Amino acid sequence: MARLMRSSSSSFSNPHSIYLTYCYFLHTRTLFSSICLLLFLNTANANGFNRLIQLPTNGLYRNSSISSKPVLLNIDDFGAKGDGFTDDTKVLQDVWKVACSLPSRTKILIPKGKFYLIKPSNFGGPCQSDVTLKMSGSITAPREPEAWHGLDVHKWLYFHGIKNFKLEGGGIFDGMGQEWWARSCKRNNSNPCTHAPTAITFHKCTNLKVRKVTMFNSQQMHMAFTSCKHVSAANVTVIAPRDSPNTDGIHISASTYVELKNLIISTGDDCISIVSNSSRIRINNVVCGQGHGISIGSLGKYNTYAAVQDVIVNRAFFFDTENGVRIKTWQGGSGFARKITFQNIWMQNVSNPIIIDQYYCDSSVPCLNQTSAVSIENISFRGIKGTSAKEEAMTFKCSDSYPCKRIYLENIQLTTPSGIANSYCWEAYGTSTGLIYPPPCISSGDIVIRHNVKPNSTYWRKDYYAFF
Ligand SMILES: *[C@@H]1O[C@H](CO)[C@@H](O)[C@H](O)[C@H]1NC(C)=O
Ligand SMILES: *[C@@H]1O[C@H](CO)[C@@H](O)[C@H](O)[C@H]1NC(C)=O
Ligand SMILES: *[C@@H]1O[C@H](CO)[C@@H](O)[C@H](O)[C@H]1NC(C)=O
Ligand SMILES: *[C@@H]1O[C@H](CO)[C@@H](O)[C@H](O)[C@H]1NC(C)=O
Ligand SMILES: *[C@@H]1O[C@H](CO)[C@@H](O)[C@H](O)[C@H]1NC(C)=O
Ligand SMILES: *[C@@H]1O[C@H](CO)[C@@H](O)[C@H](O)[C@H]1NC(C)=O
Ligand SMILES: *[C@@H]1O[C@H](CO)[C@@H](O)[C@H](O)[C@H]1NC(C)=O
Repeated sequence: MARLMRSSSSSFSNPHSIYLTYCYFLHTRTLFSSICLLLFLNTANANGFNRLIQLPTNGLYRNSSISSKPVLLNIDDFGAKGDGFTDDTKVLQDVWKVACSLPSRTKILIPKGKFYLIKPSNFGGPCQSDVTLKMSGSITAPREPEAWHGLDVHKWLYFHGIKNFKLEGGGIFDGMGQEWWARSCKRNNSNPCTHAPTAITFHKCTNLKVRKVTMFNSQQMHMAFTSCKHVSAANVTVIAPRDSPNTDGIHISASTYVELKNLIISTGDDCISIVSNSSRIRINNVVCGQGHGISIGSLGKYNTYAAVQDVIVNRAFFFDTENGVRIKTWQGGSGFARKITFQNIWMQNVSNPIIIDQYYCDSSVPCLNQTSAVSIENISFRGIKGTSAKEEAMTFKCSDSYPCKRIYLENIQLTTPSGIANSYCWEAYGTSTGLIYPPPCISSGDIVIRHNVKPNSTYWRKDYYAFF
């Protein structure tokens, strides 16, 4: 613990911080924040292009002892048009088949300055060797949901069973989600509630790298990692309107060893969501502007089991979001969320900066109280500062049967426009150190609970609810 405490500092010190600070001052209006995000985006892209231009063409793919020169497959050489109207789906699928079956490393190039219309597609592995998709240009989805007729509405671009895959290049994925949103029951409750596609899904992948991509206006979630191992994503930007339904930025499900770095996410739903059986997740340097913040959950819906553990969110900036850092579970589930740390975080005009909710209910009918729950323990909040849009700046709504255990608060300063800030606790146990404002309400007493060992014998034991 001591080691972690010393590293607690809220300064941003990488090159990104210049833009982060810039955004911080510019953000006050939605329009400005969008411009700011785009400025950031363009600057980042420009840097990337400059670097490419300065290199001699044959220097791009240097031979090294680690890797030999990849075979370059330009989608245009296979007949793609990239004019935004012609359907290039078949071409991309063919190029994928070639790339995936070649024995040497391959790089699929989506050329800069062009727009490739791609209908829902599967890109399956395993491949004969490592494949890179270099997105310098844009890939756009069909505008009309009818394009999914007879296909799986959960997916637009679906990569599965691949190993050592890399997605890079500074290009854009445009989900063209507008028509999907218009038909959502969250937009208009006379519409039926149906699924909409996740723009990019990586399923059952190992050793995946995502570098410098931008995603716009996904139909629903933008990028999902499901049942993946060893994922690293950096320099990813995701933008969708505030009122676009369920447009999570990055979704992590049943995945382990996931590292996310340098992200800017501004959408209508969770900035990042982590669900089901996920562990060893590291998130560093994230800007979440508008949307619902970073969520562990929701967990335990329909009485399911979920196990999320070993998550660290370090250095994040939230502005105008509905939540900051959140853990949400449905009643009736089982499993746990534990060993989760949120640290070095700035909040600006965030409605629920810190929230644990074991009574989560995103349903049109009220959820009944149930005795089972996904348990929550060993959760740390350290170095969290800024402003809360609501007076209740810290909320711990924990289960009666599975109280939150070992919550740890350190150096928290959340103020509100009215000058009054408070915290809410229900069945929340833990400890705090340093300056904490609003004053914490977690109980610091360990409690004695009754254990049923056999049906007719019980014993009493002190359980450590508050301390480690
Ligand atoms: C590339 O690297 C490999 C392994 O280090 C070496 O055997 C090969 O000769 C190199 N090829 C060229 C064209 O330099
Ligand atoms: C909601 O949907 C219904 C049926 O699809 C439609 O008639 C109505 O005009 C829609 N309302 C709005 C506000 O878009
Ligand atoms: C992300 O982008 C920044 C600035 O362009 C660059 O310095 C950094 O190396 C990139 N990070 C990764 C992991 O690609
Ligand atoms: C999570 O793990 C449990 C137990 O191993 C398993 O039953 C369940 O299907 C898993 N859920 C997911 C979404 O992987
Ligand atoms: C605070 O955020 C809300 C959205 O959650 C936004 O409507 C409002 O304009 C923001 N207020 C300020 C002062 O930026
Ligand atoms: C609590 O979580 C921290 C990391 O967040 C970990 O170092 C520590 O071992 C955990 N304690 C227990 C009792 O699980
Ligand atoms: C469920 O439990 C909570 C907390 O104990 C209580 O406030 C609420 O009234 C209960 N709701 C129902 C429907 O029993």
